[in-house]
Amino acid sequence: MKKTTTVGQLQDHIASLNISPAGFVPTMGALHDGHISLVGIAKEKCRLVTVSIFVNPNQFNDKDDLKNYPRNIEKDLTLLQKVMGKDDVVFFPEVNEIYPEEDTRRFDFGNLERVMEGAHRPGHFNGVAQVVSRLFEIVKPDIAFFGQKDFQQLTIIRELVRQTGSKVKITGCPIVRESDGLAMSSRNQLLEPEIRKRAPVIFKTLSEAANMAKAGEIEDIRNYVIKKINSTEGFTTEYFEIADDIELNPVQNRAGLKQGMRYWGCIAVKAGKIRLIDNIEISLL
Ligand code: PAJ
Repeated sequence: MKKTTTVGQLQDHIASLNISPAGFVPTMGALHDGHISLVGIAKEKCRLVTVSIFVNPNQFNDKDDLKNYPRNIEKDLTLLQKVMGKDDVVFFPEVNEIYPEEDTRRFDFGNLERVMEGAHRPGHFNGVAQVVSRLFEIVKPDIAFFGQKDFQQLTIIRELVRQTGSKVKITGCPIVRESDGLAMSSRNQLLEPEIRKRAPVIFKTLSEAANMAKAGEIEDIRNYVIKKINSTEGFTTEYFEIADDIELNPVQNRAGLKQGMRYWGCIAVKAGKIRLIDNIEISLL
């Protein structure tokens, strides 16, 4: 595995190999098996894989979240070493390498950035779009791999590619969970022990919501989820919405469902001091 920290090093390495298809897995580090599964899928489909590790300041709307975000580059490199091939490359730049000048671009994703995460984290998706478009320019991948865990991010990246006319093919990858159901996340290691013990309630409740879908009214499902999470000590629902993965329109009732669309129950929860997100497909049609 080749280790690079500058755009020049990375591009020289990729150019010297001239291999395609080239795969790309962008991350913010503090790697876990969810990230590693993306690398595994990329390796199945691509002959060269680049993984970036970059905690992108522009996508943190909360300064404390940026300050506390877990960072452990040595551990990340050891994990990647086990799954990356000889020519595969990890890119872990400093901030000024990605943003030599302030990035003032303002993207417009319309409704996609106004609902759910967008409504609760102002500026977040603009920062994600800035860094992902910049990384795509640097890495020039054929295929980029993103987790379904960040449901809305995946939809917005597809829209970013459409708007910018980029040739990068976007592949969504399934959510990897702990054995008790908690979706893996770099932020899980920040959970207080008592909160961590209770955290499986999130996926358990989402699974119950998916089972209610056959008979239940959408409002009843929403109320059930919010009540169940909020009655767990230390847990508060920030939002729970049932939305399609194309327009991300939260549906309020069955009359609002559109034939041919698939729907996901998407949740953000404050678990102690830490904010967690998760989602599950809900077959409403
Ligand atoms: P990060 O949170 O590090 O996640 C990197 C990638 O791993 C994302 O595509 C995310 O959806 C995926 N991922 C995280 N947890 C997962 C899990 N449990 N199962 C499957 N995939 C999972 O998402 C970001 O970083 C950033 O916003 C980024 C795209 C790198 C831009 O800065």
